[in-house]
Amino acid sequence: LVTAGPTIEPIDPVRYISNFSSGKMGYAIAAELKERGAEVILVTGKTALTPPDGVQTVDVVTAEQMFRAATKAFDRCDAAVMCAAVADYTPADYSDDKVKKKDGDLSIPLKRTQDILQYLGDHRRSGQVICGFSMETRDMLANSAAKLEKKHVDMICANNLKVAGAGFGVDTNVLTLITRDGAEELPLLSKEEAANRVIDRAVQLLA
Ligand code: CTP
Repeated sequence: LVTAGPTIEPIDPVRYISNFSSGKMGYAIAAELKERGAEVILVTGKTALTPPDGVQTVDVVTAEQMFRAATKAFDRCDAAVMCAAVADYTPADYSDDKVKKKDGDLSIPLKRTQDILQYLGDHRRSGQVICGFSMETRDMLANSAAKLEKKHVDMICANNLKVAGAGFGVDTNVLTLITRDGAEELPLLSKEEAANRVIDRAVQLLA
């Protein structure tokens, strides 16, 4: 199972809350897994990318849809690599009609979405391997290592948004692979090469 791309959380028929995820990292991982002979289910938010050949793709829009698709698919998977940038909050009330502007400022109440990675970590079968991603702007190692424990997963692939070559939409990444054995700092790599290194580590964990 691979998740990729952003989620979109509609406010009304015209507006939404989302993020800058391009989906490139997740699509590179799905393509490389397929290349190595894996059967791949790619649960993807809206991106401008073409899914890799031979990968079963499930298109979703919202965090809630991604939760449903990913938890359903994970039942028959050996491993999950969760690259999607899932919204942590969604509008508390969707307005069927366009929200009209009024004088003064506006606040939009938000409610928490479900954490898919955490859910999979808490409900996995023995033997299933789970890898998450973590994008930080400070205290990357400490924050990401905390996610490993809190979400009961096997690896967190961390990157710092402020490091050159590691941001959104670019074709490269600078990852640190954090497992219970320690942290492995990777150099600046293409997303394809980074995908390879993530999968090498995931395969070791699976073995
Ligand atoms: N994730 C998820 N479902 C969510 C939110 C995040 O599956 N609702 C997954 C992402 O796919 C990624 C990892 O969790 O693998 C990111 O961890 P997270 O703690 O959500 O990161 P942030 O939201 O950036 O955490 P924080 O806001 O605490 O920095």
